[in-house]
Amino acid sequence: MVEVGEPGQLAALEELAAGWEREGTGAEEIVGWISERFGTEALLACSFGAEDCALVDMIARVAPRIGIFYLDTGLLFEETLATRDRLQERYGVRPVAFRPRLTVAEQAEAHGEALWAREPDQCCHMRKVLPLEAALAGRLCWITGLRRDQAPTRRNTPLIQWDAAHRLVKCNPLARWTAEDVWTYIRNRNVPYNPMHDRGFPSIGCWPCTRAVAAGEDPRAGRWAGTGKTECGLHLPAGAQPEAVR
Ligand code: ADX
Ligand code: SF4
Repeated sequence: MVEVGEPGQLAALEELAAGWEREGTGAEEIVGWISERFGTEALLACSFGAEDCALVDMIARVAPRIGIFYLDTGLLFEETLATRDRLQERYGVRPVAFRPRLTVAEQAEAHGEALWAREPDQCCHMRKVLPLEAALAGRLCWITGLRRDQAPTRRNTPLIQWDAAHRLVKCNPLARWTAEDVWTYIRNRNVPYNPMHDRGFPSIGCWPCTRAVAAGEDPRAGRWAGTGKTECGLHLPAGAQPEAVR
């Protein structure tokens, strides 16, 4: 068994990832391996987007020991929370919420109304990045729904890697999947998903920073539209945080 708990094992993880690429190891097998290796110390970061709904289904079937958490920014769409409830009901899972230190009202009092419109990096830092740190503290592995074809910034997403920013293993079992693969999985297994996906929202985050996209538009064009921002900071490498929050 490859020992993967320390940064010194970076090479071992790269080798493991290369082996999975070579052998075409499937997402289910990867999730099963994570469960065997890390048990309850592995967690799925779930945004309740289509990829993560597919992963909840997969985990419930092949790796039920893996826990699930979500970052509840206080600004999630009602439909997102309803999707959480439907997944809970269907699979008996209990996604744990991690919340920012300040409520939305307290943030408005401390930093002014609608910080997201003026300083989205600072807002994401307080409402997503710091709660993610809390969620991952002391854990051994986290699983995400990142896919390579979601964005140029995600093109090199490995199946498994050392996450130096959070000091644990990060696994992206769907890295090689296309959007079509995700929807085929969801349809075949009748997985509950956010109905906003059927209304022009391929990528869904907080309501102030998410809009629908037109047919043919980049699927992530509706996130932080018009600001130049493309990532909330959850997946940036160590040392790559935006200047506003360093
Ligand atoms: S983001 O960086 O633009 O917000 P995106 O919505 O594409 O990310 O989601 C990519 C992955 O990040 C998800 O599959 C999930 O693993 C994680 N993620 C994003 N938002 C959340 C959230 N609110 N709670 C937990 N995990 C999340
Ligand atoms: Fe704030 Fe927008 Fe980031 Fe949500 S996505 S935390 S509202 S800046």
